Amino acid sequence: MPAEDLKRRAAAHALTYVTDGMRLGLGTGSTARHFVELLAEKVYGGLSIIGVPTSEQTLAQAVSLGVPIATLDEVGELDLCVDGADEIGPGLALVKGGGGALLREKIVASAAREMLVIADITKKVDMLGRFPLPIEVVDFGVVSIEHHVSAAVRAAGCEGPVTLRRDGDGHPFVTDQGHLILDAHLGRIPDPAALARALEGVAGVVEHGLFLGLARRAVLAGADGVIELDVGSF
Ligand code: A5P
Repeated sequence: MPAEDLKRRAAAHALTYVTDGMRLGLGTGSTARHFVELLAEKVYGGLSIIGVPTSEQTLAQAVSLGVPIATLDEVGELDLCVDGADEIGPGLALVKGGGGALLREKIVASAAREMLVIADITKKVDMLGRFPLPIEVVDFGVVSIEHHVSAAVRAAGCEGPVTLRRDGDGHPFVTDQGHLILDAHLGRIPDPAALARALEGVAGVVEHGLFLGLARRAVLAGADGVIELDVGSF
């Protein structure tokens, strides 16, 4: 089955967790895009929700489809955040930020009583690290920051190049918050918590794409159907 169909199946399943009156975090990426589309159909049919988008991209999509939106500050606490992930590891530890929206995604997920991850089954891994870890940094002194990030990565028992993300024209990729992204190509992250701590100690790092202790449930779609994982499922 094509990957897009699987993503849509996961997104459709996630809708069963959405009830009238909910304040919803709306994720970013191709899987979250399916969720917002399906949510818009429900809204058209009478469902009353308010969405808080995690990126300018999702904001534009939600507005274009007539999904009511608000800022996080207007809404405060959220009932549920539904978002995709680049990798889903043991304990529902996630790598996110492939689309560059990790900072707002983490803020919105942290404001939600529950984070629900939607993905196709290929995102489930026994160990995080195959997908390059995005790290959002300020632009001031980015070369120095990159050196210190590399040192932090080694100190946390990981290995691999750290590269500045560029867009299709070769310019540095700039996030919605005006920052840059370093991608750490590590292959394996044996101790995600140690790596998270190490990165958080580097001056100039705004946020990293390790989402630890945030997701409570994952909905994964595969050829055999949809499965749900919770933090103890691995
Ligand atoms: C966006 O910054 C990311 O965190 C996405 O949520 C993640 O990359 C998953 O995207 P896909 O659903 O497109 O794989």
